[in-house]
Amino acid sequence: MPGRLSRKLSQLPGKLRRLSRSVHEAQAQPDDQWAGAHLSPAERRLYLGMDARDREHACRVALALLSAHPDAAPTLLAAALLHDCGKSVRPYRVHERVLVGLVPFRLSRLLPFGALYVRAAHPALGAALVRRGGGRERVAQLVGRHHAPRGDHEAALLHAFDDLE
Ligand SMILES: [Fe+2]
Ligand SMILES: [Fe+2]
Repeated sequence: MPGRLSRKLSQLPGKLRRLSRSVHEAQAQPDDQWAGAHLSPAERRLYLGMDARDREHACRVALALLSAHPDAAPTLLAAALLHDCGKSVRPYRVHERVLVGLVPFRLSRLLPFGALYVRAAHPALGAALVRRGGGRERVAQLVGRHHAPRGDHEAALLHAFDDLE
């Protein structure tokens, strides 16, 4: 499928950028103050529980989405900031963070163990964390659908911007 291949190739520079940022948490510079202004107090607690590299990635996704869609719903913006919070249930080791970033999401669902389990299940784990932590229901829904947006326009937007960052 040439279309699919060229899309994958176009995502490669972003993947490599993420990879180079994935080694040292101390190098990450998430704008937590900006992010916090878009989250409820319960959601802010969840956000601050995320790894700094995931927070930085989340801020990039949210900022890119907001730049392209200034009228984005507040719950979509909050979901962009929390979309990968399910990864907090089992923080990656450095080598896992690098390896897991190289395994396509579809493949990780076929190899659901250890770090790959977290990769495959993080949307559902994240949605459960948002619900249990007292976040907004729509935010939980969007977090749960960010890799499989089927029929949900806002989740599809989040998926597209996540792929770019
Ligand atoms: Fe994700
Ligand atoms: Fe992401």
